[in-house]
Amino acid sequence: MDIQDKIKHLIDQRDKARLGGGEKRIDSQHKKGKYTARERIDMLLDEGSFEEYDMFVTHRCTDFGLENEQYLGDGVVAGRGTIAGRVVYIFSQDFTVFGGSLSETFAMKVCKVMDQAMKAGAPVIGLNDSGGARIQEGVNSLAGYAEIFYRNIMASGVIPQISAIFGPCAGGAVYSPALTDIIIMSDQTSHMFVTGPKVTKTVTGEDISTEDLGGATVHTSKSGVAHFKADNENEGLLLIRKILEYLPQNNLEDPIVTECKDPIDRMDDELNTVIPDDPNKPYDVKDIIYRIVDNEEFLELQRFWAKNIVTGFAKFGGQPCGIVANQPNFLAGVLDINSARKAGRFVRFCDAFNVPIITLVDVPGFLPGSFQEYGGIITHGAKLLFAYGEATVPKITITLRKAYGGAHDVMGSKQLRADMNYAWPGAEIAVMGAQGAIEILEGKRISEIEDPAERAAFAARKEEEYREKFANPYVAARFGYIDDIIEPRSTRWRIIRALRALSTKKDLLPPKKHGNIPL
Ligand code: HXC
Repeated sequence: MDIQDKIKHLIDQRDKARLGGGEKRIDSQHKKGKYTARERIDMLLDEGSFEEYDMFVTHRCTDFGLENEQYLGDGVVAGRGTIAGRVVYIFSQDFTVFGGSLSETFAMKVCKVMDQAMKAGAPVIGLNDSGGARIQEGVNSLAGYAEIFYRNIMASGVIPQISAIFGPCAGGAVYSPALTDIIIMSDQTSHMFVTGPKVTKTVTGEDISTEDLGGATVHTSKSGVAHFKADNENEGLLLIRKILEYLPQNNLEDPIVTECKDPIDRMDDELNTVIPDDPNKPYDVKDIIYRIVDNEEFLELQRFWAKNIVTGFAKFGGQPCGIVANQPNFLAGVLDINSARKAGRFVRFCDAFNVPIITLVDVPGFLPGSFQEYGGIITHGAKLLFAYGEATVPKITITLRKAYGGAHDVMGSKQLRADMNYAWPGAEIAVMGAQGAIEILEGKRISEIEDPAERAAFAARKEEEYREKFANPYVAARFGYIDDIIEPRSTRWRIIRALRALSTKKDLLPPKKHGNIPL
């Protein structure tokens, strides 16, 4: 073989590797409405930026006749490339090779890109489409998974890790995505579960479809496992690019501040009237978010789960920020188990990657009842409290309306080290709402009044007295718990000005191995 032949051989081998499990299986993949592992990479990365590693790796299994069935690359396409010019590491499971199942060498390839990502300080993206452990490889496959899990854990909080699920992801395999920062699922074509429908039926008798057990709708609305449901893979891939706009390459860098064409001192008169006069009337806090962020762009996470709290990324004057906001439009914006879990994890995500946190507060308190108490609202609520208290990034809190009781403390209060606490003039910062307070303080006297009209008038008068005395932002401002009471229309400008002042903020945690967050 002369060099020309050798080059031709190389090109042939590369072409062979690019075919994965072969044309027939590629067609079958397309017929299911799915792209191949390589097509996904091409769509996601900047054009021509992908550099593939380990294209010639094959499995080492000699059981079940597998020694006669070899595919170059062995079921995963791995390497690095760029997104918007920034380096990312990527692995994309190839369903056309043994159903994307994980072998020992497959795991080695994934671990290699994860190790390199850690050394380079660059994000890792995993595109999942796999039948799980390569059954023929037995314990070697399990060991491979554990190697990946370990790296997911070590990388957590060091480099952003994003998972997209574009096919099956079952059994213990779900735990790698679960250990990453963000999970995106494609609608109808992706499924995640620890135990599939067949085993579920055998063990528990429950008859349930794949979609109802672990589809994208379920995990974005019922379990909260996934952050985004994408209509299709194209949308899922675009979401990955979008998410990275708000994140730095690693925990030692800051997110990139981009040029901002939306005037930073833009006043918005409509904000002065956006909140209804009746304190019990709902409104959509997202109307406020869209008005104060740059260019009305807000990337909401977990939009369909725990809707009583809103979490997501936006920019203020070009500075990427995380937003946490109670949502009066859903369950009056109460804190409950799921909303505390959702916001707590988001606050920690932002803090890990130096993303400032903007908190918009309108919270009537914690959701009462045995369902919540038995479910451990004490522990789950404490997660959010812990997350806010621990976060050292710039924290700006704006109390829009209600901030009652423990929920006031939890939602980025001054004592949890928020840097700037603003309140709108209609804010009510108190131990509890007027009605509840008067029932406790005056209940006995009220019940002794025989005439119903007189009783109602007395209660109303007392509530009004309470409201005037406590249900306003001035008491908190008098004690310095609120730094300033601001006109709603100026909110954007006040946030941006504070963020700029805080861009050099330094805050430390006491030395420790790690805290013991109430998991
Ligand atoms: C080896 C596998 C495989 C696996 C699928 N294939 N899963 N090969 N190990 N785990 C192969 C099939 O033999 C087939 O090969 C090809 O992939 C496509 O599979 P199909 O069944 O034809 O595809 P489809 O009908 O789309 O069904 C996909 C599927 C199903 C739902 C993923 O294949 C399936 O249920 N697979 C088994 C899933 C499973 O139980 N995995 C183990 C989970 S436990 P050919 O040659 O025909 O193309 C686990 C533990 C991890 O993962 C623990 C970590 C700690």
